[in-house]
Amino acid sequence: MTRTWWKKGVVYQIYPRSFMDSNGDGVGDLAGIAGKADYIASLGVDIVWLNPVYRSPNKDNGYDISDYEGIMEEFGTMADLDRLVAALHERGIRVIMDLVVNHSSDQHPWFLESRSSKASPKRDWYIWKPARAGGPPNNWKACFTGSAWELDPGSGEYYLHLFDPSQPDFNWENPELRKAVYAMMRRWFERGIDGFRMDVATLFSKDPSYRDLTPAEGMFSSTAPYVYGPRLHEFIREMRREALDGFDAMTVGEAPGSTVENALELVGEGRGELDMLFQFELMGIDHVNGDKWRQRPIEVPEMKSIVERWQLGLAGRAWNSNYLMNHDQPRSVSRFGDAALYRNESAKALLLLNLSLGGTPYIYQGEELGMANVAFDSISDYRDVDTLNYHKEALAAGVPEAEAMRSIHYMSRDNARTPMQWSAGRNAGFTEGLPWIGVNPDCAKVNAEAEEADGASVLHFTRAMTAFRRKHPSLVYGSFELLAREDTRLFAFLRVGEGESLLVEINMSSETIRSEAPSRAATTLISSLGPALPVGTPAPGTLAPWEARVSALS
Ligand code: NOJ
Repeated sequence: MTRTWWKKGVVYQIYPRSFMDSNGDGVGDLAGIAGKADYIASLGVDIVWLNPVYRSPNKDNGYDISDYEGIMEEFGTMADLDRLVAALHERGIRVIMDLVVNHSSDQHPWFLESRSSKASPKRDWYIWKPARAGGPPNNWKACFTGSAWELDPGSGEYYLHLFDPSQPDFNWENPELRKAVYAMMRRWFERGIDGFRMDVATLFSKDPSYRDLTPAEGMFSSTAPYVYGPRLHEFIREMRREALDGFDAMTVGEAPGSTVENALELVGEGRGELDMLFQFELMGIDHVNGDKWRQRPIEVPEMKSIVERWQLGLAGRAWNSNYLMNHDQPRSVSRFGDAALYRNESAKALLLLNLSLGGTPYIYQGEELGMANVAFDSISDYRDVDTLNYHKEALAAGVPEAEAMRSIHYMSRDNARTPMQWSAGRNAGFTEGLPWIGVNPDCAKVNAEAEEADGASVLHFTRAMTAFRRKHPSLVYGSFELLAREDTRLFAFLRVGEGESLLVEINMSSETIRSEAPSRAATTLISSLGPALPVGTPAPGTLAPWEARVSALS
């Protein structure tokens, strides 16, 4: 396998709307992020991924873009962006941006033109179809509710939107559209950015049959007619040639519908397509029948088997990206840990897991503090279109309000989007104004200022773990072997290579459990229990609740 900066780097994901507000309007902004550049650098991360900062009507918080080369007014100006990129570059941190080109906003001039008449030269840049039997062209559903087709009364035709009606899908079959996208990407690289996270990159190519989904196919099944569609690889390879070659850029595709098998075709080394992808198998682990609003408990052996499948499946052939949360998912400590009784301990344990796997680790803002889910009492405190649509639909279908709210408390995307908790002060130190979404009331306890002052905090452990990964190349390039496969509490594996053999153990439970270490003559190198444990001495025979550690095998 080749060695590159994005393989050994750790990524920190920033959701600009919720990171830091510099001007008191209640919305995070670019100058706010720049003001925290030293904090970001102190985490020991190498790459920052910025969620969309482009002009947008904000129906889906910036994933509905109306100008790919303009900055959202609430976030600042292009000069602010340049300053932020420079501030991060000065600190040795590269910057990747979000590329959202499966769809645009319905307010993008291209769509306005496309919609204006059937004869418009841009008509074909989006996907227009006549009605079928007086209704939508097929049975495809939109991700956030309802049909994926919206009738345009002007022309009597429907346009496709796999997400909100305000997010019409591009027609990637059109070469002019593709050219415009590549030219825009090149201009961003010339401006100095270091790569892209590509929104729903597996959905660009639609099967020209526009056949119905079968009853067995979920929205993002690998066989759905718009998932890994017939021309996807051709488009991505063309994008690589036209927009990426010549730049030292990193690409990571958000990749619904990925299995190890189809992933190898998109990110396999030497395929000339993408560098990495985000698969969803772990994120679907607690869904019932693929429905994120119906949840079941997480089984540790299942979690381990998903991780193992990807670690081994891509080994030597492609590069993994590892994440336990992002802006679309619940807080990792609330979902995979024990936020109620062992918040600090389990947040550290999960960080150790994420930073010990093969592949590039992604840390989401606040994860380094152990920020947890929020539970607003009223739906009126929620902002996310997906959450609001679900609530409306569930109530209409007769789901009791309390049950719908329980599901929202667990799964809403707004769990990840409440403001970053900088201090115990007003609005958690995020804004002087009225925040666009409420602050999690636990900020009195969970905040960066308090954690700076506490040597045993999640924040200090995050720094220790990024430094540890840097010193131990086997965590980046070593092999992976899962241990204790059936154990329902212990998540243990070996990382071997680069002249070292490491044993990684995470106690995924609130009980004291037996460690693998004694039978393997291991010495502890780092433990989530911190300096209280004599590091470097023989690893003890047990792991405390949610303890995680890495030991060296002799
Ligand atoms: C995935 C993004 O991560 C999510 O936030 C967005 O709503 C959809 N793609 C649509 O762009």
